[in-house]
Amino acid sequence: MPEFKEMLADRVKETEEIIKRYLPEEAGFQRTIMKAMNYSMNAGGKRIRPLLMLETGRLFGFGGARKELEHFMAAIEMIHTSSLIHDDLPCMDNDEYRRGKKSTWAAFGEDMGVLAGDALIVEAFSVASDAFSGTEHPYRVGQAVRILAEKTGIYGMIGGQVVDVELTNQPVPADKLDFIYRLKTGALLEASMLIGAVLAGAEEEDCGKISRIALNVGLAFQIQDDILDVMGDPELLGKPVGSDERNAKTTFVTLKGLDEAREEVKRLSEEAISQLHSLNREDTFLEQLIRMLITREK
Ligand code: IPE
Ligand code: IPE
Ligand code: MG
Ligand code: MG
Ligand code: MG
Repeated sequence: MPEFKEMLADRVKETEEIIKRYLPEEAGFQRTIMKAMNYSMNAGGKRIRPLLMLETGRLFGFGGARKELEHFMAAIEMIHTSSLIHDDLPCMDNDEYRRGKKSTWAAFGEDMGVLAGDALIVEAFSVASDAFSGTEHPYRVGQAVRILAEKTGIYGMIGGQVVDVELTNQPVPADKLDFIYRLKTGALLEASMLIGAVLAGAEEEDCGKISRIALNVGLAFQIQDDILDVMGDPELLGKPVGSDERNAKTTFVTLKGLDEAREEVKRLSEEAISQLHSLNREDTFLEQLIRMLITREK
């Protein structure tokens, strides 16, 4: 698929345009918060989650809910961005760079960092709920809102971050690390793909398969993130390396070593691709996208 890179660039551009439509206007006495939200939303980022949502929707033919999907693409990127803003705070990972710029707290102050993260989570649900307006598929939109909430909150990303932070500076057994990764990173990737499938009206059995694919992608994604924290180029990553060591974090790399970590990224991604094949729906782009994540350097 030689044209994969061009297709990817086109679809990322399309994703960017969709997200931009849902960003708040910077106006009113409270405009500092909109500025802080837009600062981090516009700072860049790979847009992997909305892209996976779009491509999973496409895999199931969109089911007459393409417009609704766009609301959720913006919403998932807002939630992900909020998680990064909070993750960088001095009380969390204490990182000053993100997406090639100063972290939100470093640019706007800690107070605004906390508030901008909160505001993005709430705004995400506002944008997602707007998908009810004029839809012919209110039941699917309702399910999608529910998934977004569950995978963001105490049974998802936030739950994972809690255990991650709580176990900082402590030895973490492999099963607990797996729990952390499934929640802090896997959950939002699962929400991304599952919402794409649900909005498109995919059968329950296929939705189950999509969840499993996304969880494998999520685990591989976090392990690769850990590898890049050791081996990556901060220029390319747009964030500091060595953050995990500085914070005395147990990661897949500290637990099993770099070689095994690389093997695991490959194994999990291959498993996701073979599960994708079991859906019997031809989509080489989605497959290539998952494959690309194995060797990503940013
Ligand atoms: C970073 O996510 C945080 C993790 C869950 C590993 P991304 O690597 O997707 O960050 P952006 O969105 O491209 O900045
Ligand atoms: C954080 O994991 C995952 C989130 C939910 C934000 P990391 O702390 O490793 O993410 P980075 O490396 O700062 O992006
Ligand atoms: Mg962290
Ligand atoms: Mg971090
Ligand atoms: Mg990291």
